[in-house]
Amino acid sequence: MKVTVVGATGQIGTQLVPLLTRTGHRVVAASRASGVDAAIGTGLGEALRDADVLVDVLNAPSTEDDAALSFFTGTSANLSGAARAAGVQHYVLLSIVGVGELPGGYMRGKLVQEQTVAASGVPYTVVRATQFHQLTDAIAGSLIVDGEVRVPDAMIEPIASADVVSVLARLAGEPAADGVLEVGGPERMSFADMAAAVLASRGEELPIVVDPDATYFGIPIRRDSLVTGPDAEHGATSLREHLAQFAT
Ligand SMILES: NC(=O)c1ccc[n+]([C@@H]2O[C@H](COP(=O)([O-])OP(=O)(O)OC[C@H]3O[C@@H](n4cnc5c(N)ncnc54)[C@H](OP(=O)(O)O)[C@@H]3O)[C@@H](O)[C@H]2O)c1
Repeated sequence: MKVTVVGATGQIGTQLVPLLTRTGHRVVAASRASGVDAAIGTGLGEALRDADVLVDVLNAPSTEDDAALSFFTGTSANLSGAARAAGVQHYVLLSIVGVGELPGGYMRGKLVQEQTVAASGVPYTVVRATQFHQLTDAIAGSLIVDGEVRVPDAMIEPIASADVVSVLARLAGEPAADGVLEVGGPERMSFADMAAAVLASRGEELPIVVDPDATYFGIPIRRDSLVTGPDAEHGATSLREHLAQFAT
């Protein structure tokens, strides 16, 4: 099949393009670097010509509320229109577990993105993934205040980005579900345990304190906001296996 990956130069895209190619698909790797701008709409017709499948792994260049909301609103509208015009038979979109309930411009942008794709008339599958292992270092770092790690009283279920890539590649070869698939890591843990594992891998020791006012990058979360439901798929790679690669 011909598969167009938009966001091909990103963290997910750079793993997905070679995997799809090894699987035997003809792959078009699209991003601004290849002359395709999904925010403006330039190059989309050519990138999607004769494509059977579109995989959207774009990310907003800025996570600032208004910029991210505008980016995901605009790119999903442009991509949906171009995919419909090109006769694409499956639009696979990577989203985030919890977007339906989480506030903030970035999360609202991801929800608008999902809703736009679902309403586009193009057969689709939304893959909602949990936080990537690769993000846990930044999450733990963001929670350090005055020499303490102040964590929300919440659970997290990190997944290896490579495990997300495997799911996206598999779905690209399957018919559209016209629905949402949740994908999480092999284990759920408290933010406190996640932060302790990250600090241990860095050889750092700091007190870890549960703080009811602590947030996830400024977003207030409930205990289960970031974890999958009962029908989710789970990646195989644990956070400890991921962190062991970087242990000091
Ligand atoms: N990080 C997590 O824990 C996590 C968890 C669940 C879901 N997700 C979702 O996963 C998705 C992919 O994340 P990622 O980390 O792979 O992103 P990333 O590394 O930031 O890559 C973003 C990609 O988008 C492209 N891009 C940006 N603006 C563009 C534009 N106007 N037109 C065309 N391409 C553009 C970039 O390429 P150019 O700069 O060359 O254009 C790049 O290829 C995101 O939507 C995110 O919400 C992330």
